[in-house]
Amino acid sequence: MQSFPVRARAASCVMAMAALASAQPTPLKLLAQAHGIDIGVAVTFPAASGRAAYDSVVTRNFTGIVAENDHKWGSISSNPGVYTWTNSDRMVDFAQQHNLKLRFHAFVWHQQSSYIANGHQSGVAQPTDPNKYTRAEAFTHMRNHIGAVMQRYKTRNGGQMHVISEWDVVNEAAARDSGMFDTANVYKGLRLSTGNAVHLDSGLSRWTGYTQGETNDFDYIDSAFAIAHRNDTAARLAYNDYDAEGMGKKSNDVYSLMAKLKSRNIPVHVLGMQSHWYIGPSNTGSSGAWDPQQIAENMNRLAALGLDISITELDIRMQNPVDSAKLQQQRQAYETALGLCLAQPRCKSFYVWGVRDGQSWINSRYPGYGSPLLFSGTGTTYTPKPAYYGLISVLETTASVRRQPGAARQAPSLNYRATGPVRDLLGRRVHAAPDRPLFKAQKPAERSQAK
Ligand code: G3I
Repeated sequence: MQSFPVRARAASCVMAMAALASAQPTPLKLLAQAHGIDIGVAVTFPAASGRAAYDSVVTRNFTGIVAENDHKWGSISSNPGVYTWTNSDRMVDFAQQHNLKLRFHAFVWHQQSSYIANGHQSGVAQPTDPNKYTRAEAFTHMRNHIGAVMQRYKTRNGGQMHVISEWDVVNEAAARDSGMFDTANVYKGLRLSTGNAVHLDSGLSRWTGYTQGETNDFDYIDSAFAIAHRNDTAARLAYNDYDAEGMGKKSNDVYSLMAKLKSRNIPVHVLGMQSHWYIGPSNTGSSGAWDPQQIAENMNRLAALGLDISITELDIRMQNPVDSAKLQQQRQAYETALGLCLAQPRCKSFYVWGVRDGQSWINSRYPGYGSPLLFSGTGTTYTPKPAYYGLISVLETTASVRRQPGAARQAPSLNYRATGPVRDLLGRRVHAAPDRPLFKAQKPAERSQAK
């Protein structure tokens, strides 16, 4: 993979002195801060015995974190109005304690979302109808959940401090292999509600079913953004998706959705490019294929819409067994990815999806593939890989002319603010979320009457 773009040598004195003063390379973190870009990592805290080494790698190298799983709906709330904050709070506390930014991942998603993705509350038998909640109930759950979380985390220290730098408000609403649902009467490219009701990774989303999305122009998407905005008008709100980094059917659909949301004054500020990529052959068809020129082109058109761009979940897997040639190829791929972000003024966050190879989701999801991250090792050993040194070298040698160094702890300035009422894609007024979540439990009998 070719390196992209051509880089100019422009290391600062501070960085050079820091590198000389230590046998270690200058930490990614310092270099990233000099560029005004966040370099973050998805975090899953290991058992207590491994915490010190893990924390040290995270805090030494990264300016931000995102919870790999602990902020997902199902990790926080098992049933309507029932919240378990322990692991979730731990993430936010860690970010605050170490002066790290935090990407919040994620609110509206078709996976890992307990009752709202399952279509039923825990302890209740799986109904035959996967779209169990009514439209009104689904929106109530959405308002309450987003409200509960944002009111808890939007500021800290009595309202003085913002820790969350971005919120993934809607995750993966675009259809997988888009085009398969492209019929005349359907907004093409978004996940639909019917088809394979069990295997939700097949291109479906219960959110579409609950909200009768096909007939309501998928307004659960714009409503989620409006609700999040009403809970914190200073929050940077993101739409996050995969396989939509280059130019193609799915990225066209994501672009169309973003354009439509913007044209409707919906407060979406950031497009998250997940970037689960591979080098060499893949066992997954087109999933993870990427092309630097196309990505640059796609970034340009999204930036022209007024969106910031975040690389949110980068990992670059390879076929086992690992060898030094593949690791070099991977290094170049990581360099290319970071070069793309640095070359686009509106790309301000670059997050990798996990710390160490052995802990990556890739190992179980793609048997026969692995080594996707920046560190290898076991136990308390975290060994930087060639890809890690590749990122260091890109940061050291890329001219930094476009960015102000990131201000770690201030309310991010928004590039977009709703003026006037927020409306959905059909132009209807979207009502504000309550200041505090007001969950009103519904009895099962009421719910069945509502159908
Ligand atoms: O927590 C349970 C544990 O109690 C149980 O013993 C264990 C047995 O399998 O499973 C644990 O849950 C797993 C969870 O990760 C936490 O480790 C789930 O099975 C497993 O499916 C889940 O995988 C996560 C996956 O999202 C779910 O879709 C991965 O860690 C996580 O990396 C991955 O992240 C997603 C992003 O959120 C969205 N973009 C794609 C990305 C990769 O799929």
